[in-house]
Amino acid sequence: MKLAVVVGSTRPNRQTLKEVKWVAAQASLIEGIEAETVDLKDYPMPFFNEPLSPRANPNREIDPQVKKWLDKISSFDAYVFVTAEYNHSIPAVLKNAIDYLTTEITRKPSAVAGHGTVGGARAMMHLKEILSESRSVVIPQQVAFIGLSEGLDDDGNLSQTLKDNPYNPEVALKAMLEELKWYSDALSRARNS
Ligand SMILES: Cc1cc2nc3c(=O)[nH]c(=O)nc-3n(C[C@H](O)[C@H](O)[C@H](O)COP(=O)(O)O)c2cc1C
Repeated sequence: MKLAVVVGSTRPNRQTLKEVKWVAAQASLIEGIEAETVDLKDYPMPFFNEPLSPRANPNREIDPQVKKWLDKISSFDAYVFVTAEYNHSIPAVLKNAIDYLTTEITRKPSAVAGHGTVGGARAMMHLKEILSESRSVVIPQQVAFIGLSEGLDDDGNLSQTLKDNPYNPEVALKAMLEELKWYSDALSRARNS
């Protein structure tokens, strides 16, 4: 399974990057998962301004910057979108990037991971709805990371305190990734049959 771990914020000193490093490293420990980080910072795109919804527009004229994003995203079997919580929702840059997607994620599974004062719970709720409407198959399992600034170092290593905690987030992450792999294998078989 080729897995994209998407960095959902782009501001300087973003915390999201630490969670992405952690997710990508844990994913690479699971047999059969090849994880790659996809950073929205590498795909600067204008605010969505196409005359029709991409899904309703087969003759879409695609901005070259947007095409780079679409081509990259379509090369994966599955996704983990890692989001911060901005005003109880996802960062605008992430929403904008998803608004451009159509067939690239259709019938492919997505999972979400977040952080914030309540683990990014409200942002993740929105993100699941957005991805579902974008035709991805969103799995129920998610990772809500509370206390990211102390919980993960800059390289995405989990603190010993959290490893020893009964609510060790690595347990939730592993369960989510294994479920994502299950869906990816099943959906990939179905898409190819
Ligand atoms: C514009 C803005 C709005 C925010 N709103 C919320 C919020 O509604 N709930 C929350 O838990 N944290 C909120 N925060 C805190 C962020 O979730 C937290 O700073 C997080 O680390 C941001 O991720 P980033 O560093 O990758 O941008 C907000 C931060 C910003 C910059």
